[in-house]
Formats: sequence, C-alpha cells, structure tokens
Amino acid sequence: MRYEKQYAWSILLRLCHWAFALSIVVLSVTGYYIHFPWTNTWLEGTGRFPVATMRYIHFIAAFVFSAAVAARFYLLIFGNRQERILDFAPVTARNLKNLAATIKGYLYLGSGHEERLGHNVLAGSAYLVTFVAAVFQIVTGFYMLYPESASWQALGYMMAGAQQNARFIHYLLMWYFLVFATVHIYMGIWNDITSGEGIISSIFSGYKFMGSRR
Ligand code: HEM
Ligand code: HEM
Repeated sequence: MRYEKQYAWSILLRLCHWAFALSIVVLSVTGYYIHFPWTNTWLEGTGRFPVATMRYIHFIAAFVFSAAVAARFYLLIFGNRQERILDFAPVTARNLKNLAATIKGYLYLGSGHEERLGHNVLAGSAYLVTFVAAVFQIVTGFYMLYPESASWQALGYMMAGAQQNARFIHYLLMWYFLVFATVHIYMGIWNDITSGEGIISSIFSGYKFMGSRR
C-alpha cells in the first residue's frame, strides 16, 4: 500500500514528552521514597542522609516537570494543528465521531481506529485528564515546598484544603501517573503493531506514515 510520510509533532512537543516521561519516573521513585523511606534501617548510623538526597532530586525533577507542563499548555493554544486542544478534545462533532470509532475499534467491534495525523480522541482525552492531574500535582507540590508563600498557600488551600490533604492527593496522583504510563506504553505498542502509522517512532522523529493501515 502507498503511504505518505507526514510531519506531526514539533520538536518542542517531543522535548515536552520526554521531559515529562523521564521526570515522572524520577519523581515517582523519589516521591515513593519520601513517602516510605525503605532503606532507613539499613543506612542508619552511616552518616548519610538519603531522605534529604531523595528530596533534593525530587525538587530538581519537579522543576523539569513543571516547565514541560507549562510548555505543553502553550502548545495547546499556539502549537501546530495536531498539538492544539481542539484537535483532540471530545467537544466537536468530528472528534466525538472519532472517539466512538476508536472505542469500537479497541473493542474489536469496528474496522479499527480511524487514521488521523494527530492523537485519536480517546488518547487525547486521556492526555487532557493527565494534564489536569499534572496541574494538581504541581500546585500541591509547591504548596508543600513553599508553605510560607501566600500565593502557593492560597492556591493550594483552594485546590486541596489543608497541607495534609494536599500531601495525600499528591501521593494518590503518583499512582494515577504510574497506571497511566503502563496503559499508555501498552497501547502505544499495540497501535504500533496493528497499524502501520509508525506511532512509536513518531514521538522520536516527529513523522507519521499516513494511508498505511493494514
Ligand atoms: C517508553 C516510553 C514511552 C513511549 C514509547 C511513548 C510513546 C508515545 C507516543 C507514540 C505518543 C503519541 C501517541 C498518540 O498520537 O496518541 C505519546 C504521547 C504522550 N505520552 Fe508517551 N510514551 C512513553 C512514555 C510516557 C510516559 C512515562 C508518560 C507520562 C506518564 C507519557 C505521556 C504522554 C503524553 C501526555 C502524551 C501526549 C503528547 C502530547 O500531546 O503532549 N509517555 N507517547
Ligand atoms: C508526577 C509528578 C510527581 C510525583 C509522582 C510526585 C510524587 C510524590 C510523592 C509520592 C511524595 C510523597 C508524599 C507522601 O509523603 O505521602 C511527594 C512529596 C513531595 N513532592 Fe512530589 N511528586 C510529583 C511532582 C512534584 C512537583 C511538581 C513538586 C513541586 C515542587 C513536588 C514537590 C513535593 C514536595 C514538596 C513533597 C514533600 C516532601 C517532604 O515532605 O519532605 N512534587 N511527591
């Protein structure tokens, strides 16, 4: 079958993706350690400060994560067509049709998902939920990091209530990100195998192959 190589993702989107993906791994490992410092009794008395080190790494990764999320919000409005929010939010007739077709495709009830250069709308909706979760993670995180700052206090209190609630929400969202990442990677591989779009390489190169459904 003939197919065409088409540019889908800008370099900024790809950088955001990998900054987001790698920082989440670092944040989950160090965050889980802050929650449950599993080495404490092994290292006691050695003069090391593993929780302090883990917190330090957590905060550096947190700034990378926050920058990636801020850049992605910029692209939701000013990015190329595939990167803009209206291309994949389930709010237009075209997108709702794609959502229904994608769900049917995944349930093996249709002829497979409709090909499109941008995200399919089921994936796009999951990404939008993830961006909202990221905002909660950033606000609760900075609320804990700078408890003396009036602005973070006001925003954090409005979103999560007391500090202890913010910490709990922050912890629960870690599990959301881990489940998301697992399902995301599984579905990415599934799509790569069942269609010829070259979806996985697209997040490295920026190009997809259209008209190549098998
Ligand atoms: C081996 C690791 C990964 C691979 C191969 C991968 C691959 C991909 C691919 C191919 C896309 C575009 C798919 C589409 O058109 O719908 C994508 C998008 C995305 N991925 Fe990943 N991904 C990986 C890890 C992660 C992780 C760990 C996260 C975060 C938890 C993540 C978050 C996202 C988000 C939010 C998008 C939407 C991109 C955007 O529009 O900003 N990915 N990924
Ligand atoms: C996906 C992103 C993130 C994940 C998965 C994550 C995960 C975690 C986890 C599991 C904890 C331990 C919570 C507990 O004690 O039960 C934690 C603590 C913390 N996180 Fe995050 N975090 C993320 C992003 C951020 C961001 C963006 C900031 C912003 C500065 C941040 C700042 C903090 C702070 C200040 C603490 C408390 C440290 C302490 O009490 O010593 N985190 N994080």
